[in-house]
Amino acid sequence: MQYILAIDQGTTSTRAIVFDHAGTIVSVGQREHQQIFPRAGWVEHDPMEISANTRDVVGEALARADLNLGDIAAVGITNQRETAVVWDRTTGKPVYNAIVWQDTRTQSIVDDLGALGGGAERYQARTGLPLATYFSGPKVKWILDNVEGARAKAEQGELLFGNTDTWTLWNLTGGVNGGVHITDVTNASRTLLMDLDTLDWDTDIAAEMGIPISMLPQIRSSSERYGNGGPGGVLKGVPIAGILGDQQAATFGQVCYEVGTAKNTYGTGNFMLLNTGEEKVPSRNGLLTTVCYQLGANKPVYALEGSIAITGALVQWLRDNLGMIGSAPEIEVLAADVDDNGGAYFVPAFSGLYAPYWRADARGALVGLTRYVNKGHLARAVLEATAFQTREVLDAMNADSGVALTELKVDGGMVGNELLMQFQADILDVPVIRPKVAETTALGAAYAAGLAVGYWQGLDELRANWSEDKRWTPGLAAAERERIYRNWKKAVTRTFDWVD
Ligand code: G3P
Repeated sequence: MQYILAIDQGTTSTRAIVFDHAGTIVSVGQREHQQIFPRAGWVEHDPMEISANTRDVVGEALARADLNLGDIAAVGITNQRETAVVWDRTTGKPVYNAIVWQDTRTQSIVDDLGALGGGAERYQARTGLPLATYFSGPKVKWILDNVEGARAKAEQGELLFGNTDTWTLWNLTGGVNGGVHITDVTNASRTLLMDLDTLDWDTDIAAEMGIPISMLPQIRSSSERYGNGGPGGVLKGVPIAGILGDQQAATFGQVCYEVGTAKNTYGTGNFMLLNTGEEKVPSRNGLLTTVCYQLGANKPVYALEGSIAITGALVQWLRDNLGMIGSAPEIEVLAADVDDNGGAYFVPAFSGLYAPYWRADARGALVGLTRYVNKGHLARAVLEATAFQTREVLDAMNADSGVALTELKVDGGMVGNELLMQFQADILDVPVIRPKVAETTALGAAYAAGLAVGYWQGLDELRANWSEDKRWTPGLAAAERERIYRNWKKAVTRTFDWVD
């Protein structure tokens, strides 16, 4: 019997998960990495720590299931998207820490590019994305502009860029000894540098950002053999055959293969993706148009995406910055002490606001406070913030697609939180459904790799693996639902115009 190994290089940790043919988890290895905050608004990771953790978790997952490399048919990679790594192809060393997707240091780069004409919409028609600090391109420009000697080296072809999928793949396939420099269409679609129609780098945009094409990885489909684990490495000789950005991977793992199907992942942030098929739907309501997946030589499938920067990260912030809870699950216990939010609303605009607002000038706000408000109410306001932000994205999605979503498949770390899931169903007024395997991100990457090597024969086999674990049915009266949602909307306006 053979298995598929998925590596999930996420924002807070790196995990390796072994799956069997039924899509069931066999074993897991996991390591958190350091979150580096050098200044307000800056977020970095150490790429060397990430690659060491990747090696460790692969070994751990294999050892826990008592497996050898010969038991693994293929490996899939999924990753935090947009996080930019630039490294020296000869030494294998990064020239700077990875600049994380949440980092806002590139605001002036973004403003300057917008000022060339078109403002935030300058690249929207070509890339599907608004000009924002979120995406990789401006981060690469920042590194080339600010790290001594980096631009000259990049122009001489000595530097390589990648999101963390590319960094991970390059290291696993041999690094300085022949590592392959490849990304997939989903990751490339998050750089602000890829044309959504040609699925190739847009040389004009790259030139405007001063990014040499020679440092960009080759763009491939999400499911094909990219290379084998390098000699002497932890995956020696095993084919690496799937890459999907983590949110696209979750969509794939949730078997959202039909047009009109959607999933919402509750992680550091929240990301809702709606499959729009072979049609690239432009957004008029603050969503992104992105590649959902491309299987080998097949046509790409596109998605509309609502990205929310801070959801689970707000719970972490309460734990790490305020010490209000000792562990993330304690938030539910605190929140369950009270019946409602006591009038308090917490808008976590820590990195500005992403979808559907794209307001870089916003900063977090806690409003509606009175002496009545206690810890329980705050805990509730924190959880409700995730659900309200999701409602805003769902409203935008319904408006863009012209069809109202009738149910929402969910996954990710926060979907174990019953109180949040019930409130989510209440505030959306549609059923919320959790699958049996909630690790859909890793599963999606495993599926992409397994399809490429014939471990799975086609999408029908994957569909058959999906089953429902739990469903939350909406139960809040319409008047109350809309009253609290109106309050939320009002609270959001209080975060605007905070940064000049
Ligand atoms: O776009 C950012 C996203 O890919 C990060 O996801 O799950 O690592 O927070 P996650």
